[in-house]
Amino acid sequence: MPLRKIIIDTDPGQDDAVAILLALASPDEIEVLGITAVAGNVPLALTQKNARMVCELAGRPDMRVFAGCDAPLRRKLITAEHVHGKTGLDGPTLPDPTMPLCDGHAVDFLVDTLRTEPAGSVTLCALGPLTNIATALQKAPDIAPRIAQIVLMGGAYFEVGNITPTAEFNIYVDPEAAEQVFACGAPLTVMPLDVTHKALVTAERNAAIRALGTPAGLAVAQMTDFFERFDREKYGSDGAPLHDPCVTAWLIRPDLFAGRHINVEIETASDLTLGMTVADWWRVSGRAPNATFMGDLDADGFFALLTERLGRL
Ligand code: RIB
Ligand code: CA
Repeated sequence: MPLRKIIIDTDPGQDDAVAILLALASPDEIEVLGITAVAGNVPLALTQKNARMVCELAGRPDMRVFAGCDAPLRRKLITAEHVHGKTGLDGPTLPDPTMPLCDGHAVDFLVDTLRTEPAGSVTLCALGPLTNIATALQKAPDIAPRIAQIVLMGGAYFEVGNITPTAEFNIYVDPEAAEQVFACGAPLTVMPLDVTHKALVTAERNAAIRALGTPAGLAVAQMTDFFERFDREKYGSDGAPLHDPCVTAWLIRPDLFAGRHINVEIETASDLTLGMTVADWWRVSGRAPNATFMGDLDADGFFALLTERLGRL
């Protein structure tokens, strides 16, 4: 498999952290050009700090981490401390980062990198609200055709909403940004709740991660111990859903996933359904497909991959 160059746009978040660790543990498949933090699960001051803490946990204090947008394009920031805790990375006790935050805005890093790297060679992996990416597209429309792919965690169809009855958090926080990203023309692969709710860290799976006996393995086990209580209480889930690691796992093992190439539009007008991903799963709208929308996952294969790769850190 050729090496894939990626930028991870993220709002860590325990599940973001696991996605980042998986990417950094897979240098034969993935070259992380940089990490761009966005406000989402917790405010930007924490997401950029958490991103650096995760890089140091992975033994990568050299990684370039940039701070991006601290609020959605047009709306007030909504955060998710009720899920992720007040730090955004509750669970393990990780040391404050010593690696520096890079100078410059994350949006400029996105634009400059996409303009500098060969066209079609950089994949954007979006794990949070799409504010940074939408802002980059607004600032530099010329980057859209240069993006190889956008692989994002967001949305839902059969699973409907996790922050409102109809909307998933990443899309709901900045629906106008999502609308722009889904319309930008770059090839989209979407990991909605329909598939991420099948990536449950059961007690057995978490025990296998903890049994790695490494700082990263222990930290991930402690993150999911904390992170799972929201979904257990709400859905009766048998463990935490690892939403964002579906994005980086897909880069390594796309065969673990199944979905459909369909039309997906974003609700931005109705207060009742704001942020809903209107996924034409049954292809009844006649609207042109714009996204590969995942619906199924080989969960055992996913966790075997994740555990093996975490064991490399
Ligand atoms: O709805 C789940 C998504 O929202 C995940 O990316 C999680 O980290 C939060 O950002
Ligand atoms: Ca996230």
